[in-house]
Amino acid sequence: MKKNIKNICCIGAGYVGGPTMAVIAHKCKEIIVNVVDSNKTRIDLWNNDDLKQLPVYEPGLDKIISETRNKNLFFSTNVEKNISNADIVFISVNTPTKTKGLGAGKASDLKWVELCTRQVAKFSSGHTIVVEKSTLPVRTAEVIQKILHKAQGESKNTKNLKTFDVLSNPEFLAEGSAIKDLLEPDRVLIGGEDQISMKILSEIYENWIPQEKILLTNLWSSELAKLVANAFLAQRISSINSISALCEKTGADINQVSKAIGLDQRIGSKFLEAGPGFGGSCFQKDILNLVYLSEYFGLPEVSRYWEEVITINEWQRKRIYRSIVEKLFGTITQKKIGILGFAFKADTNDTRESSAIQIAKDLLNEGANLVIYDPKVRKNQVEAALNLESRENHLDDYSQGEWTYADNIYDVFKSSDCVVLMTEWKSFSEIDWQKAAKEMRHPAWIFDTRGVVDKKQVTESGLNFWKVGIG
Ligand code: NAD
Ligand code: UGA
Repeated sequence: MKKNIKNICCIGAGYVGGPTMAVIAHKCKEIIVNVVDSNKTRIDLWNNDDLKQLPVYEPGLDKIISETRNKNLFFSTNVEKNISNADIVFISVNTPTKTKGLGAGKASDLKWVELCTRQVAKFSSGHTIVVEKSTLPVRTAEVIQKILHKAQGESKNTKNLKTFDVLSNPEFLAEGSAIKDLLEPDRVLIGGEDQISMKILSEIYENWIPQEKILLTNLWSSELAKLVANAFLAQRISSINSISALCEKTGADINQVSKAIGLDQRIGSKFLEAGPGFGGSCFQKDILNLVYLSEYFGLPEVSRYWEEVITINEWQRKRIYRSIVEKLFGTITQKKIGILGFAFKADTNDTRESSAIQIAKDLLNEGANLVIYDPKVRKNQVEAALNLESRENHLDDYSQGEWTYADNIYDVFKSSDCVVLMTEWKSFSEIDWQKAAKEMRHPAWIFDTRGVVDKKQVTESGLNFWKVGIG
């Protein structure tokens, strides 16, 4: 059934729902886009006049929001009304790893997906195309279809005949470059059974994306391809991180090795930067999901293969923490360590699964006192991530295992024995090392877990230097 799309509802106003819908609204002015979320605080922030308060920080997002909000883009908690008016409903809710029950620690928790599918079944009217935007285990569409078909059957002899079609349209944006990724994606993937619904969704993207970049597949290929894409990306990071350790032992330089292998077009140069281990809400969750699915379908070798990507990631974090302790004469109790960058990468305020969390916890546990700075992460976010309140005062009367929040970069150097660069913010590569060195307690160390700092500048200012993959 062909129809003109006038109204879209997206359930979930998070890191995916917010930016994705903002770009659709920006590119499709004739469509009304409603983003709904059960979290009122989050919706209030999306509606805040002060664009600095948006709940998601992404370069370029504030501009797009200012051009679309309350014109054809609306944020609200009214799930019921906006589902009922929608021609297309995007499900963009969280799908974290299950913490209890069957598959705990590996399988994705689909409780929010099921809940909003039931809401769609209940509140929709007429024909609705339901789009999986969240990352889901392969064959989830089957569950969604079953719930919706039941509602379809029940509506048969009523005034409100409901019909549904389910599509998979996973999102490939990376945080920190979300707007660019949405405006110029490598591809858009649409999986489905009904060609007309697939065409309708495809036509929305064709407003700004060349048709040849829109890939149509069956439902299961689309669902699985999203998990596999993340697994392959994460696998590259674990591969290069494993080699970074070998470089540190042998005198090889990880940047030179990355460049040498990346020039081979079959390997390619992207995603070969050694670091403190991948973070973010998705890589670990999606690989664990793949591990679980492989076990479930009786493929233990496949499952073990992918699990190793996570093992190496955890090992890399521990390895960096151990190197810090070793360089500081084997003891960090009551020593002061600065942490530059707490989000899981630069250009985002997202701290989910950030390697900084694990490394900071290990350092605190060992008795170090930390000073933490991140350009976009607020104090209360760090407190929640570490599950530890910050000390108000600057640290001279520290006991041990405490931390304080720094409002500017140079505060992390004040009487510190060591400063650890955890993310690749541009401002970190512009630090005045002479000025920083004067603030520190010597002999002092700089740990660059991202390879963003110029070694010569640091060592010339009298500081010791350690860089991932070089030593
Ligand atoms: P998020 O936690 O930032 O946002 C999800 C939102 O959904 C939350 O605000 C929550 O309150 C809301 N929600 C949950 N159930 C609801 C319901 N029944 N009704 C209304 N609102 C509800 O999550 P996210 O980072 O945006 O990720 C969403 C999905 O997209 C996940 O499956 C994730 O794997 C996938 N994904 C994320 C990224 C990313 O960069 N974060 C990229 C690609 C794909
Ligand atoms: C990742 C994927 O890149 C997106 O395509 C996908 O849509 C998304 O997951 C998702 O499904 O959530 P994201 O996690 O936002 O995006 O950010 P990435 O740029 O992939 O970085 C992930 C982690 O890997 C970060 O901690 C980053 O610092 C690290 N990384 C990345 C490296 O250590 N080295 C690299 O070379 C690249």
